[in-house]
Amino acid sequence: MNQEQNSTPSKRGAWKTLFYMVYRPQKRVFHILLVAALITAGIDASFTLVTKALVDDIVAHGLQADLIRYAWMYGGLVLALVGFIWMFIRLAGGLSTALMYDLRKQSFEHLQRLSFRFFDNHAVGWLLARITSDTQRIANVVAWGTLDLFWGVPYLVAIFGILIYLDWQLGLVVLALFPFLAGVAMWFNIRILDSSRRLRKTNSRITAVYNESIAGVQTSKVLVREDENLNEFQKDTGKMYRQSMHNLLLTSAFFPFVNVFVSIATGAALWLGGTAVLAGTLTLGTLVAFMAYARALMDPMLEVSEKLAELQRTTACVERVIGLLEVEPEIVDSESVQRCMDRALVEGATTVDGGVDEIQEIEFRDVSFGYKPDEIVLRDFNLTVPAGATVALVGATGSGKSTIASLLCRFYEPTEGQILINGQDYRERSLAWLQSNLGIVLQTPFLFSGTIRSNIRYGNLNASDEQVEAAAKAVNVHDIIMQMEKGYETVVQEGGNNLSTGQKQLISFARAIIGNPQILVMDEATSSVDTQTEHWLQESLQTVLDGRISFVIAHRLSTIRSADMILVIDAGRLVEQGTHESLLAERGRYYQLYRKQYQTESEEQLLHSG
Ligand SMILES: Nc1ncnc2c1ncn2[C@@H]1O[C@H](COP(=O)(O)OP(=O)(O)OP(=O)(O)O)[C@@H](O)[C@H]1O
Ligand SMILES: [Mg+2]
Repeated sequence: MNQEQNSTPSKRGAWKTLFYMVYRPQKRVFHILLVAALITAGIDASFTLVTKALVDDIVAHGLQADLIRYAWMYGGLVLALVGFIWMFIRLAGGLSTALMYDLRKQSFEHLQRLSFRFFDNHAVGWLLARITSDTQRIANVVAWGTLDLFWGVPYLVAIFGILIYLDWQLGLVVLALFPFLAGVAMWFNIRILDSSRRLRKTNSRITAVYNESIAGVQTSKVLVREDENLNEFQKDTGKMYRQSMHNLLLTSAFFPFVNVFVSIATGAALWLGGTAVLAGTLTLGTLVAFMAYARALMDPMLEVSEKLAELQRTTACVERVIGLLEVEPEIVDSESVQRCMDRALVEGATTVDGGVDEIQEIEFRDVSFGYKPDEIVLRDFNLTVPAGATVALVGATGSGKSTIASLLCRFYEPTEGQILINGQDYRERSLAWLQSNLGIVLQTPFLFSGTIRSNIRYGNLNASDEQVEAAAKAVNVHDIIMQMEKGYETVVQEGGNNLSTGQKQLISFARAIIGNPQILVMDEATSSVDTQTEHWLQESLQTVLDGRISFVIAHRLSTIRSADMILVIDAGRLVEQGTHESLLAERGRYYQLYRKQYQTESEEQLLHSG
């Protein structure tokens, strides 16, 4: 089992896994493709046999030969060939689309199951490339490769068979030249593929540089980085030019090279065969057929060697995609929870995992945690939160506040210690139960593309329009939304770029409370909202927080003054705990933090009013 790391299955293993994955659902198509390819190869191979019969007939009977019959035969073969080629291009095209769909669907579903830690270790760009370009490449190579191998290999075998059958000595001469030819073709194909890949890489680097300079144009200008960006760009385009030339050189040399070899084979057949014809041991038709077959070898040989080279060069893609699919999610329901859930499903129980549904208490017991095994970020954290309480976490940047929230949401599990809900370790309950009782506003708010209404509704898909608006009113974003041109139907662009960070925060806030969760986690939920709006929010917040356990992380201390408990976190440790008043009276860390902020705020106010 792979614990959410980059796995590297063995080469053969990866292909084998892929084979079973793609073959099973598409079994029928593969079989039809094989039959169609076999018939096509047979038709391809028969053409020359008709030519041979025709030539021999003419030699024997002159113009008395039944030419019309041969014309019919040719015509029939051509028609059948066209039909089959059409059919199998359609089949392979369909297969490639189906394979890509299967692979993308599986990797997408799999990614959704993986835990946060996996995404900490893998860049989004890397994952996107796996899901989009790797799966596309695999699907293409497998579908068209299968087609060409199904057609090319039988065709080659048929040609060899016929050559040996027509004249085994002559056949062996052509056969002897073949491995050499195939070797040269393989050599070229692999080099051309490698050079194309380098070319693509440089090309995507150029795109990335382009992209970065455009996206960061403001920063570039401010930092006066234009010249450096241009330098970088020119270096890459120069490299691309050299690589393109190299690629062209290889491709242009390949075909003439192969042609020379095939001509040597045909020449050998002509020389040896011609002597035999003159000696009367070989018919003219056989010689003609021989030369034609020697030439016909070229097509399937080129196709097969190209596809083999491609398959070989796709191994890395296959390994990456299969590796991704074989990563096991780290945080899953324990076996006993799963058994409970299965049983509940059968018995129709109300609580799926057998626990009570009302949350009375949350306890962190000696919790320690590190994102990496050797870097502890949170140490011996203890906290008991009764029902309905609001807990505020304050502390310097990087002190571990968001980490505590992530542990509570079970995005990560404690490295040591336990988190208990109603006295029961939360790992003994299902993830689905916890998450359906959680409302979360993350530090970096994310909105999906769609309307504002649908974004709020994500928190509870059954919510009516009235409920959506009530949630928006509760967090004071209703008026802001109504001021937009299209109100709730305003379309949120990719990632919410057409909204300010504060607006996004308020909308995700509404999304968090619409599901009426028992636990609410707000990580800097209002950090980008202006002071006036926040003030209004504060007033309505009391009703929102009422009757829930809330965890509030805020930089602006004025927002958390009324919390039931304020915890001061410093470098992963709980250093102070109390209410606003008691902490101020203590004159410790909180007092200092508060005084400093208070000072800056009043100075700002003075400045503005003056
Ligand atoms: N996904 C992660 N992988 C590795 N280390 C992380 C990760 N997230 C946070 N950390 C580290 O854990 C520590 C605590 O981070 P955390 O995000 O909990 O701080 P915070 O108190 O929320 O800070 P801020 O006020 O800036 O949001 C920091 O040292 C940070 O570098
Ligand atoms: Mg944080």
